[in-house]
Amino acid sequence: MSIYAIWNNKGGVGKSYLTFQIASEYARQNFQKKVLVIDLCPQANASSMLLGGMTDGEQRLNEIHSQTNRLTISGYIEDRISSPYMSPQNGSKYLTQVSKISSIIPNNLYLIVGDEQLEIQSSRVTGATNPGPQDAWRTVHLWVSDLIEDIKNSWDYSDCCIFIDCNPSFSIYTEIALTAADRLLIPFSADGSSKRAVKALLSLVYGITRRSGEQQSEFFLNSQRFRMALPDIYMYIGNRLTQMNSSSASAFKTVVTEIGEEIWNVWNMTPSSFHIHPQNAPTPNSKRAFKKMFQYEVNDANTASVVSGALGIPIARLTAGQKIVAGRKITVNQSQLDKQVPNIQSLVQNII
Ligand SMILES: Nc1ncnc2c1ncn2[C@@H]1O[C@H](COP(=O)(O)OP(=O)(O)OP(=O)(O)O)[C@@H](O)[C@H]1O
Ligand SMILES: [Mg+2]
Repeated sequence: MSIYAIWNNKGGVGKSYLTFQIASEYARQNFQKKVLVIDLCPQANASSMLLGGMTDGEQRLNEIHSQTNRLTISGYIEDRISSPYMSPQNGSKYLTQVSKISSIIPNNLYLIVGDEQLEIQSSRVTGATNPGPQDAWRTVHLWVSDLIEDIKNSWDYSDCCIFIDCNPSFSIYTEIALTAADRLLIPFSADGSSKRAVKALLSLVYGITRRSGEQQSEFFLNSQRFRMALPDIYMYIGNRLTQMNSSSASAFKTVVTEIGEEIWNVWNMTPSSFHIHPQNAPTPNSKRAFKKMFQYEVNDANTASVVSGALGIPIARLTAGQKIVAGRKITVNQSQLDKQVPNIQSLVQNII
């Protein structure tokens, strides 16, 4: 069983889009396993896509959110705010089997639905970390781990894979997600500010500072203090790379290479922060082998991605032709699908 957090300290790099595509494709390729998406982002974009997209998904989200006892991540967080230091062991009641709402999604995919209420709850979650018992910080940071434990228990500990979509900011929820995860997927876009965001991530999570005397994050320091494991870097994924012509291809390559250098430096300092994959693969002994193991690229899927997200149809289930999105006709070209589908499929084959 593996738990992946999808995080980058930058907005709009494709965390939710990739969560939707990767989890759906993973569930399709591994029909014998249960797959769980935990949506820890108040924007609930991954939930919206999984539940049917811009129109249907949003409507279903509204229905779920308008119930008094919300069967969402916020429902669970509310239980934990009432019982911060003792798990109520009721996490599985918050599960939604996605195919019951959106039949295009494989029936082995489950969701803890995202909820904008998380924003309102966040100060109370932070408040529970301090003051409180001596290990309050640790106990609160284990809330999502407790939730996962309840769900695994309800599934009789059968084989499963878990994906957690995160907020871009380093919020309390992102911290809790990183504590629950054992592996980290880092999507980034090929623009100048992505490099800074990746540096920020490396500093916030792994305490990698650039200047002497620079302060380390409370999350990093407390994780050490309470001997809590940090997720291993599993992949860094250049997303939305468009290769329209050779000059744009080379511009993208420059940014991907620069970000690769940052992560390569971390590898040289602390290789134990990475997860060697696939199992029994030899430890990379050159920059080239390192990149081959950890660096992935996802092309810009153009119209196909818009239609896929807007209609909540995973890219491998999307067909070419004219589609209606919010009352407007949009054409999906077979050539886009021919590029994007194998791209996502091969990325998922590397997720174990
Ligand atoms: N490979 C791709 N090809 C085309 N469009 C993409 C691709 N990946 C993401 N997008 C689009 O980019 C936009 C931003 O993606 P997304 O919402 O997943 O980013 P995010 O990192 O989750 O953002 P936030 O930080 O706000 O949560 C969305 O409209 C999404 O459909
Ligand atoms: Mg998002």
